[in-house]
Amino acid sequence: MTQSSDNNGIHPSPLAPNPPIARRDFLKMAAAVGGSALALSQFGLSAHAAPPVKPPAKPAAKGLIMPSDHPMHAYDAKEAIQAKTFPNLSTVEGISQNQLEQHLGLYKGYVGKINDIETQIHAMQPDLEKMNATYSPYRELHAEQTYALNGVILHEYYFENIGGAKKKATETEMVHKIFTQEFGTWDNYVNHLLAVGKSSRGWALTGYNMRDHRIHNYGLDLHNQGVPVNVIPLLVLDVYEHAYMIDFGTKRPAYLEAFMNNVNWAVVDDRLKTMILHG
Ligand SMILES: [Fe+2]
Repeated sequence: MTQSSDNNGIHPSPLAPNPPIARRDFLKMAAAVGGSALALSQFGLSAHAAPPVKPPAKPAAKGLIMPSDHPMHAYDAKEAIQAKTFPNLSTVEGISQNQLEQHLGLYKGYVGKINDIETQIHAMQPDLEKMNATYSPYRELHAEQTYALNGVILHEYYFENIGGAKKKATETEMVHKIFTQEFGTWDNYVNHLLAVGKSSRGWALTGYNMRDHRIHNYGLDLHNQGVPVNVIPLLVLDVYEHAYMIDFGTKRPAYLEAFMNNVNWAVVDDRLKTMILHG
C-alpha cells in the first residue's frame, strides 16, 4: 500500500483501504445524506462553505511566568466539575438499572476526586527545589489528575452514547457511509471495535484522529494510559469489569453484545457532525 502524500506521513491502517477523508469530503458526504445538510445549514454552512476563520493567536508571553502571576492561581472552586445526569439510561435494555446505578456511583467518585485534586494543586505553591520525579506530592497530584479527569470525561461519553428515548437502534446513513469507507465494510468496523473491546483492560473507542483525518478504533488500559492525543471520541465503550460484572460476571462478550444493542447512533452521528463542522 502506498503512502499518502497529504497525511503527514502516516501509513494507512490495513483495515482502512481507502485514503484519508478530507474535511471537504466529509462536508460533501454530510450534505449528501438526509438530515446532515440541515445540520450544516443550522450553523450557517453549506456543503461548500469555507472553513471558519480562526481568530489570530495571542502572542506568546515573554519571559518566565512567576507562580504568583500564573493564571492557575486564578482557580475558583465555583468552577468545579458537576456530575451530569443521564436520564437516557432508563431506557437501556439488557444491562440492569442496578448495574448502571453502581457504575454511575463510580463516575460521581471521579468527579469528586478531580475537584479535590484541582483544589489541592491550586492551593500549593510549586517549589522547584522540592519537585522530584520519583516521589513528591506535586508529582502525585499531577499523576492522578489525568486519571481522574479522563475518568470523568470517558464515562460521560459512554453514558451519553447508550439508551435514550430517541435512540437510533441502527447506525445513521452518514455514520454507516463514513465508517464503511474507513473500514471497508460495516461488519469490519464492528468486529474490529469488539476485538479491541475484548482485548483492552479499560476502554475501547472509535475516534476521529485530527492528525490523519481518519476514523480509528483505539484501546486504553487505563483512563490515562494509551490515550491518543488529538483524537475526538465518537463512540466510547467501557470494558472495565465494573461496567458489567454485576450482570454478566466474567462473560465480557455477552456484555459487548448488550452494549452494541444499546448504542444510540444518533449521538454518534451528532458527534461526527460536530467534528465535520469544527474539526
Ligand atoms: Fe466505568
